[in-house]
Amino acid sequence: MTESIKYNRIAVLLHWLVGLAVLAQLSLGFWMEDVPKSPPGVRASWFNLHKSTGMVIALLIALRIIWRLMHQAPALPDVMNAAQKTLARWNHRLLYFCMIVMPLSGFLGSSFTPYPIKFFGTPLPRFWDANSEMKEVMAVIHSSAACVLVALVGIHLLGALYHAFKRDGVLGRMLISSSDHQNQSSPQNTSPQDSSTQP
Ligand code: HEM
Ligand code: HEM
Repeated sequence: MTESIKYNRIAVLLHWLVGLAVLAQLSLGFWMEDVPKSPPGVRASWFNLHKSTGMVIALLIALRIIWRLMHQAPALPDVMNAAQKTLARWNHRLLYFCMIVMPLSGFLGSSFTPYPIKFFGTPLPRFWDANSEMKEVMAVIHSSAACVLVALVGIHLLGALYHAFKRDGVLGRMLISSSDHQNQSSPQNTSPQDSSTQP
């Protein structure tokens, strides 16, 4: 594998920053559901923290998607067969889709409750009235998308492990190496592009 078919440094940094933040947010989300309602306030403070970190992660996700739309991904390497390439493309597209649905449904669901959303303690303005049906719909979307996201990340990790085990260089495409500075002048890389990997 040559350096020219790697993701560049910004793509790699955004991938790991957003990826790890989403994993932490998923863990916090599932964990906080089991926090008891008494003593009063403890559960609410974890929920408020989840909402605040979720909004920060939403901004990072938006940044990542905007940056990705402006830069094509390097073509998938020939060590992957056609089926693997199709699986990888759909896995990536659906990961992006869930990364949009998660914060959006969380924010909308919370904004339909009678309580204002607090961003690290500061109440945000309300845009519409409380609506318990809409809150319920958004809660179902939020928790269903969380389960789909966990499954997609699982498939993604299995794929990464498979390539790491085969040592075929695919994992290295998403790692920063000492020679990366040579590629920084190009928007993403200098390889033949594969526009079908766009989200
Ligand atoms: C924690 C372990 C993870 C590993 C080892 C890993 C590894 C990788 C690798 C090697 C690629 C490049 C695939 C290629 O060659 O085309 C990639 C791409 C990608 N990863 Fe991950 N990843 C991880 C976590 C995540 C998480 C948690 C998310 C999302 C929540 C994620 C989202 C993506 C997306 C969307 C792409 C496609 C990038 C693009 O073309 O824009 N990854 N990952
Ligand atoms: C990447 C972003 C996010 C991820 C990965 C995420 C993940 C999760 C998970 C895994 C749960 C538990 C679901 C369950 O067990 O049913 C949850 C619950 C919840 N999340 Fe998020 N979340 C994100 C963003 C947000 C945002 C931005 C808000 C609000 C501003 C929010 C508000 C909530 C609330 C209120 C719950 C409790 C259950 C509900 O009423 O829907 N989340 N989240």
